[in-house]
Amino acid sequence: MRKLFIAGNWKMNLLRSSSQELLAKLKGSLAAIDQVDIAVCPPAVYLSDIAQVLAGSNIGLGAQNVYSQPEGAFTGEVSCAMLLDVGCRYVILGHSERRAIFGETDALVNEKLKAVLAAGLTPIVCVGETLQEREAARTLEVVGSQCRGSLAGLSLDHMEQTVLAYEPVWAIGTGKTATPAQAEEVHAEIRNLLATMFSPAVAQKVIIQYGGSVKPDGVADILSQPNIDGGLVGGASLKADQFISIIEQAAKIKK
Ligand code: 13P
Repeated sequence: MRKLFIAGNWKMNLLRSSSQELLAKLKGSLAAIDQVDIAVCPPAVYLSDIAQVLAGSNIGLGAQNVYSQPEGAFTGEVSCAMLLDVGCRYVILGHSERRAIFGETDALVNEKLKAVLAAGLTPIVCVGETLQEREAARTLEVVGSQCRGSLAGLSLDHMEQTVLAYEPVWAIGTGKTATPAQAEEVHAEIRNLLATMFSPAVAQKVIIQYGGSVKPDGVADILSQPNIDGGLVGGASLKADQFISIIEQAAKIKK
């Protein structure tokens, strides 16, 4: 049985005061929820402060990026040890914005992933096709190749600890969500691929989130799909009422 996991990716949004207001509302409303794993991923500069606000709550803390090397002359970068040091548990890797804007490749994501797993953090590895790729009927090929490249060389244990997020690029920040059937098709295919690359038992255990314009409207249908195990939420995770509603709906889903 996989536990649903809802994470909020704040991206480069909110300042100290607005994030504190949001967190106060989330903590107040979500305290009784234990059927769903919950996390927020704020910008790196606020992680340390937010870790203190979330201490003892049921809301986990994640970063949006990390570098693979342990320390040294890497201006602007942050290490896994630093994330652990400030109380992070999760880290998003290979988000499509990092791939498209900052040129991250599957090979770099793979390097970061290995460092994250060795450090004992839980990675959330993102994959997803562009609109052009979907329209050319290349979705499964593209997502398959991102999974093969990003997950290459992982041990069975490490694969089991890795969270994946299928985020079709055309659905991110556009208000266009994949239909439950479109998302389920890709999630099922990713799970099949994991069974081949690793083992059927490992494939059954891996959490695969859906991301891309997840909103309270329609989220229950998406999360009810057999191979969809949660959501990676962007815009709606910045609005307390919307993020709370998504998590409350997730908590009611029985699979
Ligand atoms: P939106 O929910 O704003 O479409 O963002 C999705 C996303 O990129 C989460 O990582």
